[in-house]
Amino acid sequence: MPKILKVIKNPHPSLRKKSKEVDLKKDNLTGLEKLCDDMVETMLKSDGIGLAAPQISKNIRVIVVKTKDGPIFMINPELISKSLLKEFGEEGCLSVPHFYGQVKRHKKVTCQFCKITGEKTKLKAEGLFARVLQHEIDHLDGVLFIDKAKKLVEEEHGYKPQRNDK
Ligand code: CO
Repeated sequence: MPKILKVIKNPHPSLRKKSKEVDLKKDNLTGLEKLCDDMVETMLKSDGIGLAAPQISKNIRVIVVKTKDGPIFMINPELISKSLLKEFGEEGCLSVPHFYGQVKRHKKVTCQFCKITGEKTKLKAEGLFARVLQHEIDHLDGVLFIDKAKKLVEEEHGYKPQRNDK
């Protein structure tokens, strides 16, 4: 059974470390499968649309992202191309609760990563999906959206943040 992991909050030092690449030859695949299940469960139960391993105190390059086709688990994700065009959109983070801000991100990106099978693959993303990928990969480098947000807004009672998909 997957379990819900503890999501650490800013200013926990693990959120500011650069995470290590996963060596799929050496690292324990069964352990990664379990981590994948637990991270997916944690993301879904926390109502998140992405989660990076540093947020659950593991400084390894692993993220999980929610898509319309279900969650994708990415090992050693890397942005191999980014559109010149950028756009602002609202972001929040499970590790920075109750704060939202407008962050400028590339509109389209191509992400290369390894699947749990060790197979290298890539995918193209745009809009909200591209934004989530950039946000989660930033976590692997110790960067939080609050470092980049134009202005931060603290959630008020009853305030429901809007997410910009375009
Ligand atoms: Co985050």
